[in-house]
Amino acid sequence: MPAAAPTPMTVRECAEAVIAAQRRHDAEDPAVFLAAIRQPIAALLERGDLRGMGIPRQGNNVDWSHYLYFDGDLSFLLFEVPEGGRIPPHDHGVWELFAVYRGRMRHTVYRRTDDGSVAGYATLEATDDRVMEAGESAIVAPPADIHGFTALGGGAMGLTVVSGAYKPDRHYYDPEANSYVVRRAANLR
Ligand SMILES: [Fe+2]
Repeated sequence: MPAAAPTPMTVRECAEAVIAAQRRHDAEDPAVFLAAIRQPIAALLERGDLRGMGIPRQGNNVDWSHYLYFDGDLSFLLFEVPEGGRIPPHDHGVWELFAVYRGRMRHTVYRRTDDGSVAGYATLEATDDRVMEAGESAIVAPPADIHGFTALGGGAMGLTVVSGAYKPDRHYYDPEANSYVVRRAANLR
């Protein structure tokens, strides 16, 4: 008898796994916690039907964004990055797991290396800079809670998992010019 196909990870099961990991790891290094949720997130990303799920959401950086899950604290956001679309480096103020669902993206995580004392001036150091394929994830967490990404080809989609609210005044950086501007976030969730 052929082996039964594995049951796909549901959004609910994945959220339960993330919440369980939060309870176990909250006080620890965010990298430890985020490493603990990589596997359930990777299993969710294996589903082919995520695009048809969820509820439309106003994105801060992209036009197409859906909530797959939201409970007042934890959110799973699925979003589309237009071909050649470049989301400039910006900060969050909270941790985020960033994963590629469809296509490929160049994704860079940064931390600030200046002391923040000069308005409009910032120097950034890349801590994780790579081309990510579907199913791969990256950690964006303080003090390296700055990231930017570019779609490589059409049809690129990403999934982010975030706990808590984004900070309202987001910094958008220009690493080449060592500068930033502050933009009010359209949506803190
Ligand atoms: Fe972001």
